[in-house]
Amino acid sequence: MKIIITYGTFDLFHVGHIRLLKRLRELGDKLIVGISSDEFNEIKGKKSFFSYEERAEILSSCKYVTEVFPENNWGQKRDDIIKYQADIFAMGDDWQGKFDELNDICEVVYLQRTKDISTTEIKRALSKVDNIELDRIESSLHDVIAIVKNLSFK
Ligand code: CTP
Repeated sequence: MKIIITYGTFDLFHVGHIRLLKRLRELGDKLIVGISSDEFNEIKGKKSFFSYEERAEILSSCKYVTEVFPENNWGQKRDDIIKYQADIFAMGDDWQGKFDELNDICEVVYLQRTKDISTTEIKRALSKVDNIELDRIESSLHDVIAIVKNLSFK
């Protein structure tokens, strides 16, 4: 029985997340996921769109995930690895080298991220849509103002 443990916020669950989870699950028999709590995200200066409970519900419904638990602080990973008896600690390679000190209690691996997708990118793309919408509203307002000005001259 090989147990894999990983961590992340997993907000706006996307294909980069699912591909990572699939590859992680293929490394062993059980995949345990530590999900950043809303309080921990605040410490990291992040605010997720979905709450911890919603993200936990989404991750728990994923067929590659065996169990989820909250990550509340930077220092708990060592205790979690021992508690869940994890054989492999794995993260995407944006974390390359960052957790190497855990290799005295388990194997530490970093998997290649899926290119061109991230929660940050999705948020940016959606906020662009909002800006386009705002521009449209602004220009229709200019039209209305012009009509009103025209009316008051007559
Ligand atoms: N991940 C990945 N490929 C992506 C995006 C994320 O393999 N395209 C991995 C990360 O390396 C991490 C896990 O998924 O191990 C959770 O990452 P998370 O930070 O929650 O997702 P991001 O999309 O990177 O979110 P953000 O833009 O807020 O950093």
